[in-house]
Amino acid sequence: MGRTLDFLPVTSADHRRWVERRLPRFLFDYIDGGANDELTLAANLEAFRRLGLRQRVLRDVSAVDTTTTLAGEPAAMPLALAPVGLAGLMARRGEVLGVRAAEAAGIPFTLSTVGICSLREVRAAAAKPFWFQLYMLRDRTAVRRLLDGAAEAGCTTLVFTVDLAVAGLRQRDVRNGMLDGGLRGKLFRAGQILRRPGWILNVGLRGGPHHFGSLVDLVAVPTDIQASRVWMGTQFDPGVTLKDIAWLRGIWKGRLLLKGILEPEDASAAVEVGADGVIVSNHGGRQLDSVAPSLAKLPGVVQAVAGRAEVLLDGGVRSGLDVFKAVALGARGVLIGRPWVWALAGSGQSGLEDLLGTFRKELAVAMALCGVNRIGEVGPELLEVLEAAPPWPAAGA
Ligand code: FNR
Repeated sequence: MGRTLDFLPVTSADHRRWVERRLPRFLFDYIDGGANDELTLAANLEAFRRLGLRQRVLRDVSAVDTTTTLAGEPAAMPLALAPVGLAGLMARRGEVLGVRAAEAAGIPFTLSTVGICSLREVRAAAAKPFWFQLYMLRDRTAVRRLLDGAAEAGCTTLVFTVDLAVAGLRQRDVRNGMLDGGLRGKLFRAGQILRRPGWILNVGLRGGPHHFGSLVDLVAVPTDIQASRVWMGTQFDPGVTLKDIAWLRGIWKGRLLLKGILEPEDASAAVEVGADGVIVSNHGGRQLDSVAPSLAKLPGVVQAVAGRAEVLLDGGVRSGLDVFKAVALGARGVLIGRPWVWALAGSGQSGLEDLLGTFRKELAVAMALCGVNRIGEVGPELLEVLEAAPPWPAAGA
């Protein structure tokens, strides 16, 4: 998709603004929205705003280096692309473009169970192994098939999402007719699609097939995305417990990260049954509204599993400064969800590569101005909590 010369999106916020004018409303809102009143969605962002950085000067910062390792693999910075379902509806073959942009930036890409592109298609586009995200399905044979597919595709790391025992109530999707498989929903969506001819041409007409690529063998009518979503809804397994993690551990030979952990006890239990790491996450505020921002939960989880497992975080990360803050609070690294899809949907693979470049620059500048050269030196002593109102000295003092 082209860009005009009057505005070049640079930051996550720019990309969000840019894509709002390009995607059909129901798709924009599907990405942008959260559960219920979106309190947690807002809190995720606010938590980063409230955390200040401490500027340090007169230190030699002539060798700033953002590289690190994530789940044992080298990464150009402590950032990965989070699993996002339906990315291929936002941009033509979106997951393929996502993995290519991630590789160009030197960071991991995670393919969602409900990606439009299949494990095989992404594998064919990727030069290196990528990560695969799994939702537990009631049909365990289907789960085994997915895991075999992930292993065949050379996936090194399995991200097992545990915060979707039931689906959160995303009211924007109801308002926009996104969840309505009947005539009314179709008319609603058609009206919104007709206002976006660029999307119709690029994604709607030329971007197919639009089905859950990795699930085509399992769904009765794979070409019907709405029917597939209904099927997926019946497949989410609310009965999952630690026993299932132990089962998974037994059959998955690669690294296992549990995504959607907020409480220290849950993190400890996950590590005890064999998880190599946890991702502190509230699903980007899309599941349990009113749950705390993931950043606020990070220190407790880090303390609970210190030295036993890697701790990653997602939710509200919008810049390289946010990456710095999470790492300073003890995260090995972070994942971004919405920002990568905004950039891809609005400006294609190059737009996402640009955004990842922006993140890296922001992180490098923050490191230099906080007086550190290496990721390992980014610690809590470089943070301070900003008061809601600045603590001005009393008048006349
Ligand atoms: C998600 N997320 C998600 N997580 C997951 O494990 N599997 C999935 O298929 C999806 N799908 C999905 C779709 C969309 C549109 C969004 C926005 C998010 C959650 C995602 O991996 C991540 O936890 C959040 O997006 C992180 O929050 P931010 O970065 O979006 O604020």
